[in-house]
Formats: sequence, structure tokens, C-alpha cells
Amino acid sequence: MLQLQNVSKQFGDKEVLSDISLSIQTGEIVSLLGKSGSGKTTLLKIILGLVKMDNGKILFNEDNVSKVPMEKRGFNIVFQDYALFPHLNAYDNIRYGLKNKKGSITEQEIQEYIDFLELQPHLTKRIHELSGGQKQRVALARTLVTKPKILLLDEPLSALDGVIKESIKERIKTIAKEFKLTTILVTHDPEEAMTMSDKILIINDGKVSQFGTPEDIMQRPQNEFVRSFILKQLEMKRQSILSLYGGAHV
Ligand SMILES: Nc1ncnc2c1ncn2[C@@H]1O[C@H](COP(=O)(O)OP(=O)(O)O)[C@@H](O)[C@H]1O
Ligand SMILES: [Mg+2]
Repeated sequence: MLQLQNVSKQFGDKEVLSDISLSIQTGEIVSLLGKSGSGKTTLLKIILGLVKMDNGKILFNEDNVSKVPMEKRGFNIVFQDYALFPHLNAYDNIRYGLKNKKGSITEQEIQEYIDFLELQPHLTKRIHELSGGQKQRVALARTLVTKPKILLLDEPLSALDGVIKESIKERIKTIAKEFKLTTILVTHDPEEAMTMSDKILIINDGKVSQFGTPEDIMQRPQNEFVRSFILKQLEMKRQSILSLYGGAHV
């Protein structure tokens, strides 16, 4: 279980996160949902150990890891821009994170991730030769082979569309459930959060607006922000789909 207790962070005079508390059970997928600039990426980096919080505590399986450095926390992230190395091919990118972790994963296990993400045909390609979805899967594989205790994903779907997006969505869900891997993903898209997550933390201007299951949020929105930002966007999307089909029967 991962617990955040009253996490706060300021950049200069600006309070970017204030008093964020939540608990995440092992194997759950939790979305951090909010507008651009609301502090989502900062919170992800604080959990990772890349950014220091000003106040608060992070507990992992009851241990206080607040002061544990990033390398020792054992969590790992896929950054929004994937941050792949252009001078290495796909396979060497995937192996890159293992440079200092000899023996922690066998070649057979690496191949299993590669097969699961259907990357076999692309292993010798350079990064610029890959499509958006292929880059995303290489980035995911590179992170998974380090066997993180928590998987952090910053807007993993925002650069993808259509069928590719749906297939990556399903893969992320399968990974979380099959490997019982706690997964925290950042998104600004309410529909993505609703369809991906066991629970959603809605952040507004650095504060928790609501934390609950998708059902809770749909049926019991706790404040005007949830109603106006989250539910309205979903309704608008639904309406635009209906209008495409004439709207008569749905
Ligand atoms: N390293 C930094 N130094 C100063 N301000 C920052 C830094 N990182 C983020 N911010 C500011 O903190 C706020 C939240 O940013 P961020 O966490 O990236 O939001 P989100 O991911 O929700 O778009 C923004 O106003 C951003 O400009
Ligand atoms: Mg961000």
C-alpha cells in the first residue's frame, strides 16, 4: 500500500500542491486527473523521489520512504515525452535501465515483456523509425524491465489516438492486474480516468477536489469543480457522439 499524508510543495511563492492525502492499495490503478498546471506531474515526481516535497509523508507498505532517495525507492516512471535515447535502438533502450542492476531480471523475462508489448519486430529500429504507439511501448518496456514496485505514467495516452490508444489502455490495465503492479497515471482527460482507473484523485489548483471510484465521482460529485469540469466534459463528449449518429435512440 502507498500512502501520501498531507503532501505539500511550493515553487517560489506559488503553492503548487497543498495537503494531498490518499491511500492506494497494491495492484490498483489510480488516476491523477486535473487541468494543465494543477500539479499532477509534480505529485508524480514527488512520489518517484525526483522532486522533494516541503511537507508531508510518503509511506510504502508502512515504511516511511519520504527521505529515501529515488534509486532506493524502487518506483519507476514513463515520462510524458518518453525520454528515449535517439542514438540507441529499441532493444538497447529497453535494456538501458538495467545497466546498474545486473542479475535482477533474466533475458527470458525481458523477452516476455517484449513479446507482451509486441515489440519483437521493432527491436533493431532506431527511435526515429518508430511510430508514436511503438515508442510508447518501448518506453513502457524500458520501465517494466526494472521491475518497479510502483509504475508511474505521465499522460501515457495523450500523444496517441484511436485504435492505438485503446490498445495501450488495455495493455496498461492488463499489466496492473496480471503483475499486481500498483499504477498511478496522470491525465487531463476525464474519460481516460473513468475508463482506466479503480480510483481517481481529482486535483484542482494543487488541492484534492475528490478522491473516489469512477462510480462515486459520477454519482456523488462532491463539489462544483467536479460537476462543472469533470462531469460536464464527459456529457459534452457523449452529446457529440450522439449527434454523429443522429442521437435518436441512445
Ligand atoms: N521545477 C519547477 N520550478 C518552478 N515551477 C514549476 C516547476 N515544475 C512545475 N512548476 C509549476 O508548478 C505548477 C504545476 O506544474 P505541473 O505539476 O507540471 O502541472 P500539471 O502536470 O498538472 O500540468 C505549474 O504552475 C508549473 O509552472
Ligand atoms: Mg504534467
